[in-house]
Amino acid sequence: MPSTQRWPEQGWALLQLLLVASFSQAEEPVCRQRGDPENPQLSKNGDIMLGGIYSFHTSWKDRQDTYRQKPLPLECTRGFQFAQAMLFAIEEINNSTEILPGISLGYKIYDSCASIARSVRVALALANGNEILSALSEAPCRTAQLQAIMGETSSSPCMAVATVIGPFHIPMISHFATCACLSDKTKYPSFLRTIPSDYYQSRALAQLVWHFGWTWVGAIRTNDDYGNNGMAIFTEASQHLGICLEYSVAFFRTDPPDKIQKIIDIIKASTSKVIVAFLSHKDMDVLIHDLSDHNLTGYQWVGSESWIFDSQIAAMDRHHILDGAIGLSIPKAHVSGMREFMMDVKPLNSSSNEMFPEFWETLFNCKFKQSKSSAGNQRECTGHEDLTGVQNSFTDMSLMPIFNNVYKGVYAVAHALHNILSCNKTCDNKVQLDPFMVSRTPTFHIL
Ligand SMILES: *[C@@H]1O[C@H](CO)[C@@H](O)[C@H](O)[C@H]1NC(C)=O
Ligand SMILES: *[C@@H]1O[C@H](CO)[C@@H](O)[C@H](O)[C@H]1NC(C)=O
Ligand SMILES: *[C@@H]1O[C@H](CO)[C@@H](O)[C@H](O)[C@H]1NC(C)=O
Ligand SMILES: *[C@@H]1O[C@H](CO)[C@@H](O)[C@H](O)[C@H]1NC(C)=O
Ligand SMILES: *[C@@H]1O[C@H](CO)[C@@H](O)[C@H](O)[C@H]1NC(C)=O
Repeated sequence: MPSTQRWPEQGWALLQLLLVASFSQAEEPVCRQRGDPENPQLSKNGDIMLGGIYSFHTSWKDRQDTYRQKPLPLECTRGFQFAQAMLFAIEEINNSTEILPGISLGYKIYDSCASIARSVRVALALANGNEILSALSEAPCRTAQLQAIMGETSSSPCMAVATVIGPFHIPMISHFATCACLSDKTKYPSFLRTIPSDYYQSRALAQLVWHFGWTWVGAIRTNDDYGNNGMAIFTEASQHLGICLEYSVAFFRTDPPDKIQKIIDIIKASTSKVIVAFLSHKDMDVLIHDLSDHNLTGYQWVGSESWIFDSQIAAMDRHHILDGAIGLSIPKAHVSGMREFMMDVKPLNSSSNEMFPEFWETLFNCKFKQSKSSAGNQRECTGHEDLTGVQNSFTDMSLMPIFNNVYKGVYAVAHALHNILSCNKTCDNKVQLDPFMVSRTPTFHIL
């Protein structure tokens, strides 16, 4: 129908005209920083820089009062442990004469605060490498100076970040994002990971359910890319095996109580006794309380790796609802020296001027005298607190298999660089590094 086709064509011509006009105005490409520059939460200079994106805070906590001050972040999470695992690998490589001799690795690690929007923002700050420039100066466009980005932890932020950094060919290496969707090289050309794709996990879970002869099961998933993709593959694989799903419901941690109530009603009304839960640990964290309140015991749970091996979830299951749950987990790992390195937090004081006091306060549950966050009757920090005897989520090393994935990722990058720079006793420092080369070296075929 020609009449409907004409409009888009005309619109397209107009757009082309505008593009030509805007290109002909600026001869020298000039980059102007928009908005506040982003400074990394942890950083150290080196000959070659690696980026890191982890979630140290669950959200930028809004101050209730005026909205005139910058939001003050508070809760530290396991993101700090991932960052420490990265720093351990970097220091070990820096110390070694076998790998990248004479070359030091530096880092810039950002807090994404469990926000996809912030992940993308800091990924662009890393790609631009211009976060120190004054917001007023007009500097020429700079190409990326860093060779790889370590992180993110979950699948959805990885998809967002991999989409924006793909065109720059900067490799992004995740330690925990399992969504099979991330294997699509046309969409995420520079995404790599040190954990297997759910393409395998979902099929293996279907086999597991089938193995025990459970052919009538219910299903719960996290309503994000991880849960929806993982469950879709499970559903397809289980259908081939003759397993029937009585129900399949989606849930997200921010859902309103009536949505959770509906899910509980569905479980109560169901006749299946097996529940396959493709949930992130953050969602199981929320769900477990409601399941406990409703005494939903007597179900056989089959779980995905995110919650099934999480000791904090197990600790929270006071009513033993999840007893006997089965699933697949990341292989056990021990990285010698890592625990000791992670427990020694004082060196962080030099690479994180701004976050360190806050981190220290969270770690030891105390407050510095001059602290901005004046929370009532907490004891005062002396600065001489000692981690021996302290037991909290920071000293919990049960996530060592994931720390090992972070560690392996840094080593994969280091080996790639080692090859590109033809290192033997020394490295060829005349080679012009390009992240594209890093992501294309044979080292990465194992990922
Ligand atoms: C790497 O080693 C050099 C020389 O020993 C040191 O100056 C630098 O701080 C180290 N960097 C890291 C990230 O450990
Ligand atoms: C690096 O070398 C320094 C100095 O010998 C040592 O104190 C540190 O523990 C080493 N770090 C790692 C991660 O091996
Ligand atoms: C759960 O069980 C406890 C103790 O057996 C009981 O007091 C409570 O009312 C039950 N809750 C529901 C929602 O059935
Ligand atoms: C961190 O470094 C600052 C400045 O060097 C120092 O005053 C402070 O005592 C250090 N804090 C701790 C807990 O070591
Ligand atoms: C490294 O250098 C030594 C001597 O300079 C040489 O014998 C050896 O073959 C080299 N190794 C590689 C992998 O090129």
